[in-house]
Amino acid sequence: MTPKQFSRFEQAQKSYQTRARDNDNSWHPQYTTRFVKLIDIQPGDRVLVLACGTGLEAVIACPLVGDNGLVTALDAAPAMLDVFRKKQATDEILSRRLVLVQHDVTDLESCEHLEKGAYDVIICSNAFVLFDDPGRVVSQWAGYLRRGGRLIVDILHENHPRQELFMKKVIQQRGMTYPASRSWIESVHSFRGILEARHLQVFRIEALDKEPGKGHVYLGREEMNAMFDYITKNQLRSKTRVLFEREWDSAAESEGNGNVKVS
Ligand SMILES: C[S@@+](CC[C@H](N)C(=O)[O-])C[C@H]1O[C@@H](n2cnc3c(N)ncnc32)[C@H](O)[C@@H]1O
Repeated sequence: MTPKQFSRFEQAQKSYQTRARDNDNSWHPQYTTRFVKLIDIQPGDRVLVLACGTGLEAVIACPLVGDNGLVTALDAAPAMLDVFRKKQATDEILSRRLVLVQHDVTDLESCEHLEKGAYDVIICSNAFVLFDDPGRVVSQWAGYLRRGGRLIVDILHENHPRQELFMKKVIQQRGMTYPASRSWIESVHSFRGILEARHLQVFRIEALDKEPGKGHVYLGREEMNAMFDYITKNQLRSKTRVLFEREWDSAAESEGNGNVKVS
């Protein structure tokens, strides 16, 4: 029997079901705090948060927009949204200023909760590489900005996280589809090219560390297994472990000191 092919949206729903529980205990909250500080959200702003997950960006944005502003947040994964809904249920500001919607952010046209040309700020953090056809996705999103509105998106460094690059190769070797589409990221300027080709003006490019002050992280082979287990689940784990080890060993050998620079 041919295995069922899942769409990107279905893949996101499946893979973030299990990650919802740990998201707020990971590196994400401190990263998001620094990320949102760069945005300068103003009272009265209408903010659209795409792939909002457990709501880290939106929870910071809601107090900033004031009672004349509004935050609308979309995500695919019911479990991520459940965590977020629990926060909203116990927070007066979130209950007044936040609309939460389960929807595919690569298909905003079919979302009845959104209005074109209406948002001062659109944010997408830690998710953009999950989408195919980045140019199509940003052009669609830009249609929801008001004139002069800002789109703030973070993308991965072309070489990091290294384990994801290994995993992408391994998954392709196994003939499976890798759920992140990062092959277009070749340098810090790759995203600029995509935006300018759609006549969007780039105001600012910032480099943001995943964890500040940590510098590059090098891991030895003894740390490889823990990391591999962290990024895989049972079935995938057994199918890919040997190939992953091969990628790791080959990188460690070419880097000379037996360690691999993972970020
Ligand atoms: C790594 S999490 C990031 C969540 C949040 N932005 C943060 O930084 O904490 C990626 C999120 O993207 C969501 N996602 C992935 N593809 C999606 C899609 N097509 N439509 C809506 N959400 C999607 C996932 O459900 C997940 O919650």
